[in-house]
Amino acid sequence: MPLTIADIGAAILKTEYAVRGPIVARAQELERQGRTVIYCNIGNPQALEQKPLTYLRQVLSLVSWPELLANPDARWPEDAVSAARAFIAGSKHGIGAYSESKGVRFVREAVADFIRARDGIQADPEAIYLTDGASKGVQTALRMLIAGPQDGIMVPIPQYPLYSATITLYGGRMAGYYLDEANGWKLSRVELEKAYEKAGSEGTRIKAICVINPGNPTGSVLDHDNIAMVLAFAREKGLSVLADEVYQENIYREGESFVSFARVLEESGYKDVSLFSFHSCSKGFMGECGLRGGYMEIRNLPAEVVAQITKLQSVSLCSNLPGQVATYVLVRPPLAGEPSYALYAKERDGILGELRSRAALLVEGLNRIPGISTAAITGAMYAFPKVTLPAGKTDEDWCMALLEATGICLVPGTGFGQRPGTAHFRTTILPPTSRIKEVVKLIADFQEKYR
Ligand SMILES: Cc1ncc(COP(=O)(O)O)c(C=O)c1O
Repeated sequence: MPLTIADIGAAILKTEYAVRGPIVARAQELERQGRTVIYCNIGNPQALEQKPLTYLRQVLSLVSWPELLANPDARWPEDAVSAARAFIAGSKHGIGAYSESKGVRFVREAVADFIRARDGIQADPEAIYLTDGASKGVQTALRMLIAGPQDGIMVPIPQYPLYSATITLYGGRMAGYYLDEANGWKLSRVELEKAYEKAGSEGTRIKAICVINPGNPTGSVLDHDNIAMVLAFAREKGLSVLADEVYQENIYREGESFVSFARVLEESGYKDVSLFSFHSCSKGFMGECGLRGGYMEIRNLPAEVVAQITKLQSVSLCSNLPGQVATYVLVRPPLAGEPSYALYAKERDGILGELRSRAALLVEGLNRIPGISTAAITGAMYAFPKVTLPAGKTDEDWCMALLEATGICLVPGTGFGQRPGTAHFRTTILPPTSRIKEVVKLIADFQEKYR
């Protein structure tokens, strides 16, 4: 007898992942029927015409085909050739062999150098795990933390569904804390306390708090004081912290900058708050979602817990090696004065400049539509506008009707969580600038009819 749905575990059946849910399935069906679909549902930059960074692909090509390195011709810049040679020497066997479970040590040393230079703090290559995108790191941390059905993880509402889905899958409980929409989606101690108390009253044992900074889907950026507040809260309650920092390069507002949880933790001197931080090759200006590169850095974990994490990682042997090459370039790009620097900086600034202007265009355009309002996008790659709906309609109905009418694929707010009685949708800022205007116009025309 074949496997039936009744054989599948309840946790899997309960798991939902809205970013690739029924609206996307319908969009793909429409596309197969010949309709043009504008995918604004997922932060996948190269699916929306963003070009790969030349230097990264040069290093990757050279590492993939080492014969090119034997006698490199003038096409290959010297720094790309030496980076490729260094990776092959550092990994000993190139990208066709498994690496250590934590990832190639030479790359982990480069990650540690990157953290030291970014934050001015110490960093240990042995506390770094190279992962298949940030997702795998987040899943490892949640796997470690969820030990029983009472265990809860505090997650922002709205949140990125990787968290809700993985917590469900691992049999834990999600304890949502609300972000303040009226205040640029800021995070407040009052909301953290409320969520913590509510979870406690339901018999949930909170183990950790997750923070996404810059925020997905909110686009907000935390400042130093906000981060210090979260760490003090975590310390008081005895919680671990998961800091999802995959959008650390995506900050658009003049005067704002990225502050890492690791830096604030070290400054605070807390030795009793365990921290898991995540970074990725998928976002920023690299946008290499398909290469599945990223890392997890851990702090303040006892050696015996570290050994368990390493064991867990070793069950899948190691993260993919092309992703480890991408992670190497993420943390060790060409520096000023090196042959590839000028082109690298031009590509980087071009992509970030485009994202900044699309963020502004989108916010301005959406806020002109009656019944739609959105906060400024100060970071990440998304807007999460509030939409007023006719009685009886949900944001899922609205998104599906918009898709059918216009070909625009968005994600309903329900997939990320929202305050009861409100409706939202999430859109990326990734379509090319010319298309952003078209997207706003199509949404405006649709909304007028829908209301
Ligand atoms: C907040 C956040 N964390 C993690 C990820 C996972 O990215 P990846 O696994 O590609 O690194 C994403 C992807 O969109 C994200 O938005």
